[in-house]
Amino acid sequence: MARLLSCSLLVLASLCLVHTRPYHEEKHRALLRSGYVYFPGGGYYRLAYKTPVVWAEARRNCQQEGATLAVVNSEKEADNLRSLYLNNGPVKRERDGGWSDSYDTNVLAESTVDPIPTPTPDVPTPTPAPANATIHIGFHDIFIEGEYLTVRNEPLIMAGFIRWKVGYPIADDEHNCGGFDTGKFILDNPCDVKLPYVCEIPEVY
Ligand SMILES: *[C@@H]1O[C@H](CO)[C@@H](O)[C@H](O)[C@H]1NC(C)=O
Repeated sequence: MARLLSCSLLVLASLCLVHTRPYHEEKHRALLRSGYVYFPGGGYYRLAYKTPVVWAEARRNCQQEGATLAVVNSEKEADNLRSLYLNNGPVKRERDGGWSDSYDTNVLAESTVDPIPTPTPDVPTPTPAPANATIHIGFHDIFIEGEYLTVRNEPLIMAGFIRWKVGYPIADDEHNCGGFDTGKFILDNPCDVKLPYVCEIPEVY
């Protein structure tokens, strides 16, 4: 019994160590309240999808809340954005009352669907969903065609994640604004297309 107790104490102690929050506790809670999702080691992200906007407006909206349009710096961060969209996006299961958003009418949302899993007795079959969608993220080549900069003013090649979707980038005057396909690709969209977007507040160590 004593051994079990000391064992549990040890487990508790290490859990506490692991869960020390690097960001100010109050700020952390305020961000969660305002719709940010925390990814340990990554930072805070807020997905805005209910009112798609053009890229410049997405950028401004993020700035106004002390964030930036998300910059993808690693494979891990691409994973974060993907799961943010899957878990906090417009996808609604049948048990939640079906679709509550019309995002699938968006021109850039893909209409293809994930294969429907084999139904089991206690799990309702999910409503087919647009599997991967496109959102605005923080890079562009507005100034010089083909010279991609992040919204933090660094060259995109320094950012750490470049995986163009097949057919991209598109070298013309229209496709100058950064997008992220939640299948984990980047692309350059026309700047005036209205899309969901993700604001990011990096974690402060
Ligand atoms: C969505 O993205 C994932 C990851 O890249 C990919 O495996 C899947 O095939 C994509 N789904 C569709 C319908 O394109």
